Amino acid sequence: MLTPLRLYYATRDGQAQRIARHIADRLGEFGHAVDPANLAAKLPEPEGLSGVGLVIVVAAVRYGRHLPEAVQLFSVYGRQPSAPPLAVASVNLTARKPGKDTAEGNAYLRKAIRRHRLRPVLAMAFAGRLDYARYRWLDRQMIRFIMKLTGGPTDPTTCVEFTAWDRVDAFAAGIADWLERSGAQEQPQAR
Ligand SMILES: Cc1cc2nc3c(=O)[nH]c(=O)nc-3n(C[C@H](O)[C@H](O)[C@H](O)COP(=O)(O)O)c2cc1C
Repeated sequence: MLTPLRLYYATRDGQAQRIARHIADRLGEFGHAVDPANLAAKLPEPEGLSGVGLVIVVAAVRYGRHLPEAVQLFSVYGRQPSAPPLAVASVNLTARKPGKDTAEGNAYLRKAIRRHRLRPVLAMAFAGRLDYARYRWLDRQMIRFIMKLTGGPTDPTTCVEFTAWDRVDAFAAGIADWLERSGAQEQPQAR
């Protein structure tokens, strides 16, 4: 049976989008074509997900929660008994710490999975990007404070990408492996 994939991201500063793009590129190399779509532009209708082989969600965290459009999707997902299989990646700065980059070790991901009763076939947390110059004054002070508490950089000129791209590669490889094992195939491209 031919079953298409969907890849959605929720971002404010672009890192979740870059990660989604990277996943799409890797999946393309495995023969699974998929275009990342911004959840803020359009939330998928639950009916629109029927017949989909796997939904992949890459969601950034702000102030302790995934972005609202991702929470909305998780909520729809958790309530739909016939929802397609899900792979989820959370993007946040806590994940830069050893042990905080897994579904169990990352509190945001763990809580989202539990709260929305998700049963992802794959779940990982990726460290995001810290770019103080982009943030509004209050956000900058808040993040600097959090960084001070957690031993991160507080210099307001700091711009660091903490994302471990080899882990993003591993996530994409895990998805390709799951697709192969589950027998799902990408819809052939029209020529
Ligand atoms: C206003 C603001 C609030 C944030 N809150 C958190 C947080 O509560 N926990 C965390 O680990 N990271 C937090 N972050 C870090 C973001 O998750 C990180 O920068 C991520 O790369 C953002 O993804 P995006 O570029 O796709 O928007 C915050 C960042 C900003 C700008």
